[in-house]
Amino acid sequence: MKLYVVKDKATMGKKAADVIAAEMQTTPHFVLGLATGSTPETCYAELAKKNKAGKISFENVITFNLDEYAGLPVKHPESYRSFMDAKLFKHVNIPMSATHLPNGNAPDLDAMCEEYEMMMDKVGGVDVQVLGIGRNGHIGFNEPGSSLASRTRKVKLTKSTKEANGPYFKAPDKMPDYAITMGIGTILEAKKIILMACGDTKVDAIAAALEGPVSVTCPASALQLHPDVTWVVTKDAATGLKMEWPEQD
Ligand code: GLP
Repeated sequence: MKLYVVKDKATMGKKAADVIAAEMQTTPHFVLGLATGSTPETCYAELAKKNKAGKISFENVITFNLDEYAGLPVKHPESYRSFMDAKLFKHVNIPMSATHLPNGNAPDLDAMCEEYEMMMDKVGGVDVQVLGIGRNGHIGFNEPGSSLASRTRKVKLTKSTKEANGPYFKAPDKMPDYAITMGIGTILEAKKIILMACGDTKVDAIAAALEGPVSVTCPASALQLHPDVTWVVTKDAATGLKMEWPEQD
């Protein structure tokens, strides 16, 4: 486990993009797991910059997003497909056919979730999974109480997640109550994980995830069980940490 405490969101994005780019350059058919939310925006902008400068190519990259709202039209500005198009896919040379998000409008959601997992398996699994963290410690949309062995499935969102994400919707009550998310068990199968966190709303979540017991009360604490997790956290999000962490190069 590596922890980088950095000064701000821009530095966090740069550091995370450097880690991802290094993996991309050494893995021929790279499978990238992606997250949404405001946290990874600076990382995606940096990846786009590196792509434009010819340092990395997305030509042979396949992506799988963590989650998507259930029942929200894919063209809705707050759908995670719209987010990914706007923040990353439109700015890099990735074939759109290589980008995958769970289909929150599938007639049979259980079958879609199973197929989503099968598609990831078929390409050899996720090489690097990008994560943010919810204020309540959720990863993807695995809310507190999610089984640490959970798989891709439909979930109900908590009040705190609706309060955090609701303001992005023009009418907050229009935010869906349900979402599709990769499970915690699914996420833990990624070969490498990079979690970013910024801002003081994440202090408790980061402290519980890194230094608390592994528990369903903080889904991100399950990452303590993974052998290769890099945490990139801004200093204002790291103020709840008590341990002396080794300084990283
Ligand atoms: C959202 C997403 C998560 C994300 C988290 C934090 O609900 N489902 O994948 O990490 O909440 O969002 P933000 O980065 O905007 O704080």
